[in-house]
Amino acid sequence: MKKIISVVGARPNFMKVAPIHKAFRNYEDKITHLICHTGQHYDEKMSKVFFEDLELPQPDFYLGVGSGSHAEQTANVMIEFEKILINEKPDLVLVVGDVNSTIACSLTAKKLHIKVVHVEAGLRSFDMEMPEEINRILTDRISDFLFVTEKSGLENLKNEGVDDSKVFFVGNVMIDSLVHYQPKIDKSNILEHFKLASVISKENSHVSRLTSRGYVLVTLHRPSNVDTKESLEKLVKFLNIIAKERMVVFPIHPRTKSNLEKYALIQTLSDTIILSEPIGYIDFQALIKNAELIVTDSGGIQEETTYLGVQCITLRTSTERPSTVDIGTNQLIGVDLEKAEVACLNVLAGNKKAGTIPELWDGKAAERIAEILCKEEV
Ligand code: UD1
Repeated sequence: MKKIISVVGARPNFMKVAPIHKAFRNYEDKITHLICHTGQHYDEKMSKVFFEDLELPQPDFYLGVGSGSHAEQTANVMIEFEKILINEKPDLVLVVGDVNSTIACSLTAKKLHIKVVHVEAGLRSFDMEMPEEINRILTDRISDFLFVTEKSGLENLKNEGVDDSKVFFVGNVMIDSLVHYQPKIDKSNILEHFKLASVISKENSHVSRLTSRGYVLVTLHRPSNVDTKESLEKLVKFLNIIAKERMVVFPIHPRTKSNLEKYALIQTLSDTIILSEPIGYIDFQALIKNAELIVTDSGGIQEETTYLGVQCITLRTSTERPSTVDIGTNQLIGVDLEKAEVACLNVLAGNKKAGTIPELWDGKAAERIAEILCKEEV
């Protein structure tokens, strides 16, 4: 029997661990699977709703670390996770993605000589100013099993001298969730919800625009886009221009919201922009699927739009997910919002980027991971 503790910490982790948990259940005679939630994200809207939507069991361990500087958050996760590992003595610790909880838990495990499994290994933006890039590189360096989502990951790990025997190209667990929950996503009533909201608070014209001409979905939370007054002012100007063309739906990340409020900019957003709290997994996927265009600085949304064939404009200078640009529907525009405006208006004028789905993004990545971990000696 192998005892595996999987770690979730922040919003983008939940939809990656959910399919892995389901796949491990098929091997109950071989794997005992426990889930540790570090509490990096703790709000109902950033965390709890995802457990419900993704049918994740209550975590076996909750570390409750919350927010803080990078050092504080990482250190607090390490201190609390070490206690769990000393008590539980798992054979493997499984981490996903690139958030602070990912590096904190892999480092803690490795120092206790517990083997580390990294799901979504090998992705590189080559931008060391992104905290996630540091987390990715360090986690891969100490991992014993590296599960890769796209071909660029294989190349990057090879270039870094990682032994081939540790690397497995399995596909994308985040796409597993998207495939699995399609029927539920199609039943979401989030569009009706927003229409109702518009009817109550704004003129009816917005309603017909939302349905007949499509809408633009916006998500922005990266410090480089939302932390200074100057960048936020430019962002508001840009969003207000897009809002003249289409209804804009903007579920606001807590970081972005608090900064927009701090600089008194939230009230300068056009009233054709629907602002909302962060949205749960199922409803958010329905919003992506039905959007004419997504404007984002997220990592995962670049992949979800590529899988769904939805137009995506990424406001970043680099991406660790190049297949979404090379063969998918993603356009990496940079952070110059005048260029972004031209690119968005171009898409809204009907000039859409054609895309295909990367290899092995087929809903079965977690099954491959479970099969491999069952077979391998640890
Ligand atoms: C983190 C990840 C990022 C991921 C993002 C998704 C790292 C380094 N970054 O960034 O890769 O794309 O999550 O959201 O791990 N807050 C709340 N409620 C919460 C969580 C956070 O209000 O439940 C607020 C806090 O004020 C906090 C701020 O959001 O200071 C930022 O949260 P934090 O976890 O530090 O980083 P994210 O920007 O969310």
